[in-house]
Amino acid sequence: MKYVINGGNKLFGKLAVDSAKNAILPIIAASIMCDEECIIEDIPLYLDVIEMAAILEKLGKTIEFKDGNLVISGSISSTSVIMAETKTLRSSIFMMGSIISKYRKAIFTYPGGCDIGKRPIDIHLAGLKKLGIKFTFANDLIYCDASRVNGSVIELSYPSVGATENIMMASTLMEGEITVIKNCAREPEITELARFINLMGGKVYGAGYETIVVCGVKKLHGTSFRCMGDRIAAGTFLIAGAMCGGRIELDGINPNYLLPLIVFLRNSGCNIDLFSDKIILENFSRLKSVEKIETETYPGFPTDLQSPMLVMQTISKGTSIIHETVFEARFKVVAELIKMGAKINVSERYATVVGVTKLKPAKVSCPDLRGGAGLVLAGLVAKGTTEVDEIFHIERGYYNLDECLKSLGAEINKVE
Ligand code: EPZ
Repeated sequence: MKYVINGGNKLFGKLAVDSAKNAILPIIAASIMCDEECIIEDIPLYLDVIEMAAILEKLGKTIEFKDGNLVISGSISSTSVIMAETKTLRSSIFMMGSIISKYRKAIFTYPGGCDIGKRPIDIHLAGLKKLGIKFTFANDLIYCDASRVNGSVIELSYPSVGATENIMMASTLMEGEITVIKNCAREPEITELARFINLMGGKVYGAGYETIVVCGVKKLHGTSFRCMGDRIAAGTFLIAGAMCGGRIELDGINPNYLLPLIVFLRNSGCNIDLFSDKIILENFSRLKSVEKIETETYPGFPTDLQSPMLVMQTISKGTSIIHETVFEARFKVVAELIKMGAKINVSERYATVVGVTKLKPAKVSCPDLRGGAGLVLAGLVAKGTTEVDEIFHIERGYYNLDECLKSLGAEINKVE
């Protein structure tokens, strides 16, 4: 499958932002800790969400996509997560914490790396070990024994999102035990996971700050949950509006989750109005380059918007230096952008972008999820026909991206 884009149109209109992929995935994992019915409302069919739900179903959960919601019930019949899907779906590692929490044992396939880096789990394992969990490794499998666990004070060596979520879940059902997670990640998706766990009867305090406290409880009950808007998808659409020109309105997004991007867009020349649950962007002039962009853990500029922002710099006036501090291989899209006439030089974790007045249409291929989204943005501004293939990468984290952009006036079609 590929997108065929006829670039050059300005974008006008309104979009409702879908629920956040990176909150839904750990929340699906967390539902393993409860045998009663959990309903995740208004669920976008991201490929990663479909795959995560399929893993739960293989483990024995009852899964139903009904009336736009995901309904999960029942209990797993196996604590061995050994399947091909877990090699490709990085977020399946989140199930380690939830399965251990409830069943005190688990066997996992060692998760693979992916397009943007090695993706180790040493920080996850170091934290889980502090809870008394024993790990043995053989034949590319991880054997987890949590027959004897204890609350603990855990200081993460790096504020890893996944490690924070895994340790939060692992300690949720350690009845009577108190766990303190220090130097934890502060992403809004973690706050959403804590909100979901607490709605099920858990006791997680401090999510969104650098220290989280979990008071273990005996049991969780079912709940229904509506997730926050996806800040990365929203940021991608804002960058699309800035690059194409026009006026777009995004509903269902809290601008507080995108402040570093909003500052960059304003400094680039865009008019942006902020409301509690809405962002309006307007731009009708050539963008000015952002001289220095450095990705950081939340609340800094998010690594997941680095590729879309890099593409925006390719047509901005001036020179931009982008420093990717989070992942070691997140500039793969550069080779494809150079085919479109972009002027980019990469050295280790730095990309230097000299803005050009226009990009050329071309046939390009997605290297990863966010790089793929960046290529779509490049196609939207390159006058002529651009083809973006390998779009399964994009569909992992954007739902109906072509339809969303088409509704704003872009000429984009999905074809075999
Ligand atoms: C989550 O990945 C997100 N995925 C990523 O989004 C996001 O880019 C990332 O957080 C950072 O915000 C989901 O939530 C499903 P990390 P995660 O653990 O948890 C290193 C997207 O595009 N590290 O915070 O895997 C790691 O290699 C995806 O939607 C260790 O060294 O991110 C990386 O360099 C991509 N050891 C850095 O920390 C560990 O044990 C950040 O990783 C864990 C991580």
